[in-house]
Amino acid sequence: MSSQIDHLLTESRKFAPSAEFAADAVADASLYERAAADREAFWADQARDLLHWHTPFTEVLDWSNPPFATWFADGELNVAYNCLDRHVEAGDGDRVALLWEGEPEGDERRVTYAELTDEVKRLANVLGDLGIGHGDRVAIYMPMIPEAIAAMLAVARVGAIHSVVFGGFSADSLRARIDDAGARLVITADGGWRKGKVSPLKPAVDMALADRNGSGVQETVEHVLVVRRGENAVEWTEGRDLWWHDVVPRAAADHVAQPFPAENPLFILYTSGTTGKPKGILHTSGGYLTQATFTNRVVHDIHPDTDVFWCTADIGWITGHSYVTYGPLANGATQVLYEGTPDTPHPGRWWEIVQKYGVTILYTAPTAIRSFMKIGRQVPAKFDLSSLRLLGSVGEPINPEAWMWYRKIIGDKKAPIVDTWWQTETGAMMVSALPGVTETKPGSAQVPLPGISIDVVDEDGAHVGTGNGGLLVITEPWPSMLRGIWGDPERFVETYWQKFQKQGYYFAGDGARLDDDGDVWFLGRVDDVMNVSGHRLSTTEIESALVGNEAVAEAAVVGASDETTGQAVVAFVIVKQSYLDAHSPAGLADALRTWVGEQIGPIARPRDVYIVGELPKTRSGKIMRRLLRDVAEGREVGDTTTLADTAVMSVISAQVK
Ligand code: PRX
Repeated sequence: MSSQIDHLLTESRKFAPSAEFAADAVADASLYERAAADREAFWADQARDLLHWHTPFTEVLDWSNPPFATWFADGELNVAYNCLDRHVEAGDGDRVALLWEGEPEGDERRVTYAELTDEVKRLANVLGDLGIGHGDRVAIYMPMIPEAIAAMLAVARVGAIHSVVFGGFSADSLRARIDDAGARLVITADGGWRKGKVSPLKPAVDMALADRNGSGVQETVEHVLVVRRGENAVEWTEGRDLWWHDVVPRAAADHVAQPFPAENPLFILYTSGTTGKPKGILHTSGGYLTQATFTNRVVHDIHPDTDVFWCTADIGWITGHSYVTYGPLANGATQVLYEGTPDTPHPGRWWEIVQKYGVTILYTAPTAIRSFMKIGRQVPAKFDLSSLRLLGSVGEPINPEAWMWYRKIIGDKKAPIVDTWWQTETGAMMVSALPGVTETKPGSAQVPLPGISIDVVDEDGAHVGTGNGGLLVITEPWPSMLRGIWGDPERFVETYWQKFQKQGYYFAGDGARLDDDGDVWFLGRVDDVMNVSGHRLSTTEIESALVGNEAVAEAAVVGASDETTGQAVVAFVIVKQSYLDAHSPAGLADALRTWVGEQIGPIARPRDVYIVGELPKTRSGKIMRRLLRDVAEGREVGDTTTLADTAVMSVISAQVK
């Protein structure tokens, strides 16, 4: 980590916003002053200005029972009404909401606000017919197609709670999430296009719901609603399964959006923590929508009449929730929705889409930028990217080299870059430059947004001061903060609030440092959470998957730095003797990589699996992952004196070589 800090210290380039950009920017510096003068009044103004309230709120924040906050609690709203109906009622029904591009070229659909509203109303009626209403949980396991957005909004419209499960997760992962939330309905598709072929989804749902007899888990799912997209063969369970195209067009077109309290749960989104069990992060309605809408508006500088926004995240992640579904639609924006992968059928696919739709704002992840860098500038150079006027980054620290490449090759040195730091738990952006206001610095996420209070502190919670590294904390409650972990209030308190209980700070789990200007530089996670291509993975979760394989006696997983993906999963595995006798180490390693992919999902598949004879342990039996990381990153192995057996590391190093 220290070489990274040194490296960051040398970065002193700054880019001031152009007068042209600043003149038209949504944000201006007065936002900081207003928020600093009265933080709660500032958020109340945003909530009132940006959203429609069926019942206006009179209370803003209740923090009398920390860490359990409520925002705008006596107000009532309907989240879907805010994203849809009100735009149609304001005369903007013909505005395109979704410029959908399928992965196979030529596959496209334009969906207006009026059309999306109509679809969501019908689907809300279908949900009603299926008995889904206030407080019920609905799992959504879908490709990036307009119906996925409609599904989220219809669930929100009836006051139910969605749990979107990334389509790349396995049947087992889906099952665990369905069970934890007690979902009554699953909305899915037969399959979706990825990497030039149909990747099946419905078959995984069938697997997730199969063989529950004897598992001790009570089946909660009553129906499975299926969109036809991949046209792949699917099995059908009569009475349980329904085709979307059979029921949605036939449902009544009228549906009046009912108001729900601001603190009505909106969704659960599972994310990896430091244990093997993913956490169901719970978000509610009014505060979440306020901050998602506000940040999308001021950080992405949304001008709904003229912009074409494109956030490349999948709806299975928080970025897809806040900056595909909720923020942009509440702002009445027009956005691109792309089903497939960046390099299918050719490496210039994204830039072709930017050119085709005249995308003005692009929001993506550093890992994507780094993989484009690797392919070379000649690919984007083939396309007209002159429509791009603002670029965003999210998901992991963006290294200055990638930042500069993004600026020069994609943004033509004109488009400002906003590097936005936030988390599934924060619900919306927390630290970012404001375009048109902030002088940007390659590699730094920079300053807390107006209305957000953060600090960098030491283990005791004391401010570290400029020039020093420490832990990132959030010092005041914010509207889109998580309200809990589904079904586990103790874990909520323990994970985020216990460490700095005395100060009442939220512990983010990220290392950070403040430079001499007071700008924040993020340094990665300080816990056993890895960040692979901007996706969060838990070392423990992958270790449990590995030891779940009958060949494995013991396993340790580390995140090793990787040029393209930020970090990569590297596993050290002790295999049982009988398996070692019967198989080659290479064959075992391959089989275990595949196994993890099947257990959790392809994103969790280790880059490397090393079959070793022993693992480095302290005298108390704790695995020293730090040393394994040294080996995985090809470094000299660090201090081994606390190991029970100091010879272990030389054996492992030799084996790995
Ligand atoms: O370590 C931080 C990193 O991603 C983590 C949150 O992951 P997740 O909940 O999956 O949400 C990702 C999308 C918001 C954080 O704890 N992270 C996210 N954005 C940045 C970042 N690290 C540095 N700079 C960022 N801009």
